[in-house]
Amino acid sequence: MGCFFTLGIETSCDDTGVAVLRNEREVVSELLSSQIKDHAPFGGVVPEFAARKHLENILPLIDAALRQAKITGRRLGLIAVTRGPGLMGSLLAGTETAFALAQAWNVPVIGVNHLEGHLFAPLLESDLEPPFLSLIVSGGHTEIIKAEKFGRYTILGTTRDDAAGEAYDKAARMMGLPYPGGPEIDRLAQSGDPKAFDFPTPLKNTDKIEFSFSGLKTALLWQINKLKNNSKSLPLADLSASFQRAVTEALIAKVALAVRQTGIKDVSVSGGVAANSALRSHLADKSGGRWKAYLPRASRCTDNAAMIAMAGHNAFTRGTENAEEFAYFAPDPSLALAKRGGVASFMVI
Ligand code: KG4
Ligand code: ZN
Repeated sequence: MGCFFTLGIETSCDDTGVAVLRNEREVVSELLSSQIKDHAPFGGVVPEFAARKHLENILPLIDAALRQAKITGRRLGLIAVTRGPGLMGSLLAGTETAFALAQAWNVPVIGVNHLEGHLFAPLLESDLEPPFLSLIVSGGHTEIIKAEKFGRYTILGTTRDDAAGEAYDKAARMMGLPYPGGPEIDRLAQSGDPKAFDFPTPLKNTDKIEFSFSGLKTALLWQINKLKNNSKSLPLADLSASFQRAVTEALIAKVALAVRQTGIKDVSVSGGVAANSALRSHLADKSGGRWKAYLPRASRCTDNAAMIAMAGHNAFTRGTENAEEFAYFAPDPSLALAKRGGVASFMVI
């Protein structure tokens, strides 16, 4: 069989990711330039700064990824780039680069929904097929999605307020921990007692698939203030472990509910929070045969280009016959999952 190469580009937030995929799911090169250190002094991502950093990083990364894959740009069959949702300036850095290179190399471009990318991340390492459920838990999203078939997705439930990763980041900030807070809390929780503080598990017993983390954040803040008023130094490990327990239980409760409601047992899990060690172990331990969780390796839970390349290649092979999609597309910061990307007009078939 001949080889088909896809170049994946991910720049929706603060990570510049580039990957080369051979055929359906074989990752031949994968590079990431993280801006975590650049944004850490500000306690969060600064959009303008992120866009400028993407522009600095992207061409050298693409060059290196192609060299590692031992191919030239003209040998590519497709460029798959994140179209949205995300930060406008960051998305533009990726899509404009994709269109410029596509023109130079005479290669088609396809726009990928960032969430569909996350949904595909576990599939890089397994042959999971639809129908399946997908729990996407990141800094910007907390969603349970039903994938009836590739390209057809229904959002079964989402968050009323913060995303799970956002809740981790804000909780960490309250405890005086550096950004991004999720990995810090995860690390500290290893030596803490998850039952030390009786934080509530949000919406645990409702029969609706939905999340909410604002009450939990308030409970944490209240506890921190109480400890500080008693001039105690904060027991960071216990606070982290207890907070993490509450978030994890809330996520697991709704996975169990979605499995019950749909009768679908395969669950793909991804997004930054899927790197969380408590969530990973609970998904296995608490299943009792009710579901099977598919998780990507930790480095592919957070934003990466391999997942974008795979989702783009999958959509491309599904939809090349649809001529209406062969048009230039603009990035869309609030792109909905139901809406598909597009293939560039200079596509040569
Ligand atoms: O998917 P991602 O890289 O970017 C978005 O699309 O948002 O997710 C980043 C989020 C951050 O909020 C970060 O704190 C969280 O994922 N995160 C974690 C862990 N690693 C990253 N949260 C909990 N535990 C972790 N180990
Ligand atoms: Zn993401």
